[in-house]
Amino acid sequence: MRHFAGGQVEPDVLRRLLEAAHHAPSVGFMQPWRFIRIRGQALRQQLHHVVEEERVLTARALGEREDEFMRLKVQGLLDAAELLVVTLADGREKHVFGRRTLPQMDLASASCAIQNLWLAARAEGLGMGWVSLFDPAEVSVLLGLPEGAEPIALLCLGPVHQFYEEPMLQRERWAKREPLASLVFDESWGLPSDLFDKPSSSTEPT
Ligand SMILES: Cc1cc2nc3c(=O)[nH]c(=O)nc-3n(C[C@H](O)[C@H](O)[C@H](O)COP(=O)(O)O)c2cc1C
Repeated sequence: MRHFAGGQVEPDVLRRLLEAAHHAPSVGFMQPWRFIRIRGQALRQQLHHVVEEERVLTARALGEREDEFMRLKVQGLLDAAELLVVTLADGREKHVFGRRTLPQMDLASASCAIQNLWLAARAEGLGMGWVSLFDPAEVSVLLGLPEGAEPIALLCLGPVHQFYEEPMLQRERWAKREPLASLVFDESWGLPSDLFDKPSSSTEPT
C-alpha cells in the first residue's frame, strides 16, 4: 500500500500487530528483528528525504524506464499514520544454526515477521507498505544503529481510503503477475510440472 489516509493506529492495535510479527518463525529461533517506531515529524521528514534521494537514483539506474518510474507512487512516508523501521539486530554472526551456508536466513526470518505484520494489519483493516528505496548507511546514522545492525524496511502503516483491487504496479502496467505454471518445475530446473496439465477436480466448483 502506498496511498494512506492519515489518522492513527491505536496503541492496542499496534501492540497486537507487533506481537504477530514477533511470533514469526526464525532460523535457530534467533529472532533477528528489531522495530523502531518513528514518533517525531522531523525524523520522518529526514527519512522521507533519504527515500526521495534514492528514488531519483533508482530512476536514473532504470535507463529507458526512468520517466515511467518517476511517475509511480513508491512510498507513503508522509501520509501513513505510523512509520516503523525494521532492522536486523547486531551480533548476528554468533547465530550459526541454519546460517553457516546461508547467512541471509536472518533476512528471510525478519521478512517472515514483516509478512506477519502485513497480514495482521490487513485483518485489522489497515494498509501497509514496505519501502526499501533508501541508503542503509544514511538510515543507520539517522537512527543511531549499532555496528552490525542493518535497516531492511521502512514500514508505512495505517488507515487507507481503499485497498487496491490488483497490485498497483500491475494496474500501472509496470509489471504483471507471472503464470504460476511457469515457476513450478518437476524434478529439475526448467522441467514443467504436470501439476498444471489439467484443472484439479478438488478445487473445481461443484
Ligand atoms: C522486500 C520488499 C520491498 C519493497 N519495496 C518497495 C518500495 O521501496 N517501494 C514500493 O513502492 N513498493 C515496495 N514493495 C511493494 C511491492 O512492490 C508490492 O508488494 C508488489 O507490487 C505487489 O503488490 P501487492 O503487494 O499489492 O500484491 C516492496 C515489497 C517487498 C516484499
